Amino acid sequence: MSKKYYLTTPIYYPSDNLHIGHTYCTVAADCIKRYKELQGYDVFFTTGSDEHGQKIEEKAKELGVEPKEYVDRIVDSIKDLWKELEIDYDKFIRSTDPEHEKNVQEIFQKLYDKGEIYKSEYEGYYCTPCESFWTDSQLLEGHKCPDCNRETHVSHEESYFFKLSKYRDRLLKYYEDHPEFIEPDSRKNEMINNFLKDGLDDLSVTRSSFDWGVKVPFDDKHVVYVWIDALSCYLTAIGYGTDEEQFNKYWPADVHLVGKEIIRFHTIIWPALLMALDIPLPEKIYGHGWILFDNDKMSKSKGNVVYPEPIIKLYGVDALKYFLLREFSFGSDGSFNKEKFMNRLNSDLANDLGNLVSRSIAMVEKYNGGYLEEAGAREEVDEDLINMGISVAGKVDKAMEHFQFSTALEEIWKFIRRCNKYIDETTPWILAKDEENKERLNTVLYNLCESLRVIAVLISPFIAKTSKEIRKALRVKGEIQWEDATKWGLLEAGTNVKLKKVLFPRLKVDEEIEKLNEETEKLVSERNAEKAKFAKVEIKEEEKTEESEGKAEVTIDDFEKLEIKVALVESVEDHPKADRLYLLNLKMGDERRTIVSNIKNVYTKEELTGKKILVITNLKPAKFRGIESRGMLLGAEDKDGNFSLATVYGDLPDGSVIS
Ligand code: ME8
Repeated sequence: MSKKYYLTTPIYYPSDNLHIGHTYCTVAADCIKRYKELQGYDVFFTTGSDEHGQKIEEKAKELGVEPKEYVDRIVDSIKDLWKELEIDYDKFIRSTDPEHEKNVQEIFQKLYDKGEIYKSEYEGYYCTPCESFWTDSQLLEGHKCPDCNRETHVSHEESYFFKLSKYRDRLLKYYEDHPEFIEPDSRKNEMINNFLKDGLDDLSVTRSSFDWGVKVPFDDKHVVYVWIDALSCYLTAIGYGTDEEQFNKYWPADVHLVGKEIIRFHTIIWPALLMALDIPLPEKIYGHGWILFDNDKMSKSKGNVVYPEPIIKLYGVDALKYFLLREFSFGSDGSFNKEKFMNRLNSDLANDLGNLVSRSIAMVEKYNGGYLEEAGAREEVDEDLINMGISVAGKVDKAMEHFQFSTALEEIWKFIRRCNKYIDETTPWILAKDEENKERLNTVLYNLCESLRVIAVLISPFIAKTSKEIRKALRVKGEIQWEDATKWGLLEAGTNVKLKKVLFPRLKVDEEIEKLNEETEKLVSERNAEKAKFAKVEIKEEEKTEESEGKAEVTIDDFEKLEIKVALVESVEDHPKADRLYLLNLKMGDERRTIVSNIKNVYTKEELTGKKILVITNLKPAKFRGIESRGMLLGAEDKDGNFSLATVYGDLPDGSVIS
């Protein structure tokens, strides 16, 4: 019986603005699925949509439609996109599926019956876009959300709580005993240092301030917190509560692939919930990096969103998949750039792979009428090629153990480049001139076609369509297996090889960038028109429904409301209760005050002491872990998150007012 493998992507928020960043995880999961299947695993791949919550309720309201109507339309478009990308998932779970909702209620009831959930009162800072509550000590300056840096608001409500705090030690022990549970390692350290080290608070797991969610079974004033609802999808998708046989077959998950900003939910809340439910934990949570655009966060308001559809339309699905998997290292952030994209298509796909395929097959057609002949005696150069070819699969395996797609592809491409060199070394066009060299020519052509067959197997998890084209040209019939890449001599003499079309034409970079921009504009305006047609009310500002990055315009009067002063840092202390915070003792003219700040990982106390900085002095005071902070210091952050304090040009006395 084949071994099972269960993998998931996150359950996506319904958005009609899915960009290439969103496709990253799904493309990666699809690649893993295909790779594991070739190795004989029985794979189950879950993706889906996370459709409840205040954010959705608000968006539907903006369009004047019911939440369900809103999500139905978008979920259809997400499914269309996965189809276009040829994502081979097994289950698309919707958090609004009635079976799922029923199961979430049962999970909630079970936790309540076990005493894992209790009723209390909640007061905290709520970030609506992230659907997260934060405590004082977790917030950034200005009460901003530590995940997305947006404003939070104080929310006060009766709530049910999950006893998350009691799982802190078990989680730490689990991480220690299972070093591969969280990957990459850096993400694990982040979780320990930022969330677990200082203790965990119990988690508010219901909301009563909005309606769009799964009702708490025994108290319908409350809906279940979206993250409990969403995470449970990983269970219900494979039959938890409905098909125990299938559930027992696939659970525990072998890997949950998630973006780095939601790793906290998957490595703290999720395992604690599973522990509380006595369900085994997943084998691995992999936190991948983000795809930026020209090193900046992609956002509709910045107009720098790269959509997958125009790329697929112009260059094909494999071009996009190849670029995503080859260009970026899965665990780290990467930056998309149109020029880089076109150049890689030209160098790797058109020059290296495309050329190899068309040259090799064209030579068989030209010199042998399209028929493969038996290979003769091998020379050293042949042995070298063959040995390299049949050993690539092992190298790919090593890279894929840790989802290093880029390294895996580079190993395959080393072989592709070796094959191109083999053509130059063996010069078939010279061999073809003399009938005496016929056997040698046949050997070279056979080895080239065998190399193509091996390459077709190796690339199949990554760029399945191209793999199929190559196999079709070589008349390879039936299913392939991964181990076919480790064998030599499977093509039969007498095979009639034929390539129908050029796989990847060379691109003129500047022209193509223009074309891509045009297609993108077309897509955006079509989408806006469709959205306007769908809406039951007039949409005034398109951006309003999106997560806007830019801030609204202000008047001079708005600015005048702020008091910004030059402050001298007289001394700096550690916050007695929060490892990450400093207390900055400031002097502004005759006045002295303390500001609590989270710049500990940026400046040492010595660096700060004696410096003049800028402070908003009339900000409403706030308490951070029991200490009042009066004001907010100003600084700037670059796109990589490097922070620098703001100061004035020239030496002004402390207390000077900025105007
Ligand atoms: O977080 N680069 O959904 P989501 C790489 N519903 N990945 C990106 C990205 C980018 N530029 N932008 C987004 C949610 N993503 C929750 C999940 S799971 C139980 C609930 C990734 O639609 C992001 O990191 O906001 C996340 O993994 C995925 O897209 C879905 O994000």
